[in-house]
Amino acid sequence: MSLFITFEGPDGSGKTTQARMLADYLESQGHPVLCTREPGGTEISEQVRQVILSTHNKSMRNETEVLLYSAARAQIVAELIRPALAQGKLVICDRYYDSTFAYQGYGLGVDLNLLRAITQFATGGLVPDLTFYVDVPVELGLTRRHRSETNRLDLKNIEYHTRVRNGYLELVKAEPDRFIIIDGSGPVEQVQEQIRARMITELAERRMT
Ligand code: TYD
Repeated sequence: MSLFITFEGPDGSGKTTQARMLADYLESQGHPVLCTREPGGTEISEQVRQVILSTHNKSMRNETEVLLYSAARAQIVAELIRPALAQGKLVICDRYYDSTFAYQGYGLGVDLNLLRAITQFATGGLVPDLTFYVDVPVELGLTRRHRSETNRLDLKNIEYHTRVRNGYLELVKAEPDRFIIIDGSGPVEQVQEQIRARMITELAERRMT
């Protein structure tokens, strides 16, 4: 039985580390796992990622940004995620369309209904079974980030990141059955402990243990 799990959260929430740790744990339990990320995950999507995140592209229009994220998504869904689910794998994806709603919708003010239509087109309606939303206060997230290379999106201001986080909280409220809120402010192991405990419950409910 397959399961599509996504990780979401503001920048610096630590969800990338958490997604990887959960994937390793599930593999150690004998589950077939595919762990991937957005934007990226396939050769074409990684090329699109370069364009989106390049600091050279400061003049990028919001419309362009939405379409590029969605283009990368269309490719990873068709090329990687759907086939893995068809093989009965547990698919873990670091970010998915909720990021578009939080960042481009709530963050940049792009119309949410428009994003729904574009997302439907890009994904063919593939909805995650479960979404871990790793929450951290905006200031903590921003101070935690220590990337070697600053990308274009890091240059955005704190008001933007606050809108993104509040947007996530709206999304969680609208779909409480799909989202699991995780407090990401503690130490890595403690956060992973919460995620693992919830995952074990979810697998048991689906008789997948
Ligand atoms: P990344 O370096 O992967 O950041 P993180 O480790 O925080 O996930 O860059 C992804 C950036 O792209 C991140 O700032 C969120 C943003 N993003 C969007 O704005 N919209 C989207 O649809 C997706 C998938 C990501």
